[in-house]
Amino acid sequence: MPVHQATAQAHPNIALIKYWGNRDQALRLPSNPSLSMNLDGLTTTTQVEFDPSLKSDVLILDGREVTGAGRERVGRFLDQVRDLCQTFEVLETSKVYARVESRNNFPAGAGLASSASGFAALAVAASAATGLKLSEAELSRLARLGSGSACRSVPGGFVEWPSGADDRSSFAYSIAPADHWDLVDVVALIDVEHKSVGSTEGHAVADTSPLQAARVATAPDRLAQARSAVLGRDFAALADVVERDSLMMHAVMITSIPSLMYWQPATIAVMQAVVQWRANGLAACTTIDAGPNVHVICSAEAADEVALRLRVIPGVRQVITARAGGPARLRPDL
Ligand code: PMV
Repeated sequence: MPVHQATAQAHPNIALIKYWGNRDQALRLPSNPSLSMNLDGLTTTTQVEFDPSLKSDVLILDGREVTGAGRERVGRFLDQVRDLCQTFEVLETSKVYARVESRNNFPAGAGLASSASGFAALAVAASAATGLKLSEAELSRLARLGSGSACRSVPGGFVEWPSGADDRSSFAYSIAPADHWDLVDVVALIDVEHKSVGSTEGHAVADTSPLQAARVATAPDRLAQARSAVLGRDFAALADVVERDSLMMHAVMITSIPSLMYWQPATIAVMQAVVQWRANGLAACTTIDAGPNVHVICSAEAADEVALRLRVIPGVRQVITARAGGPARLRPDL
């Protein structure tokens, strides 16, 4: 069998309407629909090589070999790809192991959604390496099996992920390309250490909070408001719903069993500062993932001022700026 290899790149995404909790934990079928923006400039580059001489899957992340739970998760994902290959009869043996080498140009595991760009790039590279020819929807669905939010990093720009009825129908698609609206995500990095409770465990306890049912029931309304704000480029309407939605997700996290409190004092300081700035006319709002860092979503005109102001807030270690980014794609040139 010839050696099969491919390289792909994907961007992380920031959810404007959050996904939290699964209807089906194993298949990562979400409890609610979500909406996100890909982050240009922040990139995961992943090379996959299926090699018959390997005795197990190998994962190299940012130059270091990963074993244990991280490699097992990637191995289980590759099993899905190998199953697809059997279905389509593209690989000569059902169990050919792969070497996966992945690099992020941003800190992993700190609420910057490296799992989203990671599994999106892996889905594109692994399927291409085997010779599978999957559509964008099929790639998005495949990426979802690795990490729910990864399905939103496959299409470009502003992306919606409806809950879907089942495994086949739960995938994300673009509602507007990256150049539709020059929104900027100015990320205040407060802690870049790996988070203690990852989102997979977090999703599993979402239903222990009595607030989750109310959040899920009202998510479609917030999604509709956010979608029309994006399509109409209405920043005030977007800011209102983005902040409320993030706070609702964190209310669920904080009140679940065990309680998940991702915020640090500087997280709250940034949130309060941005509310004040917006009241004084700066087009900016905040959203926070499963980590302490704060994503300040703002207009392109406000971005420099926002970055300047964030840098002097005590506890903000670094500021990263990203515009709306494109889809995951193959990079045969790398
Ligand atoms: O895809 P996961 O399992 O890492 O979950 C992502 C969850 C949040 O980032 C907190 C919200 C979201 O919609 O991205």
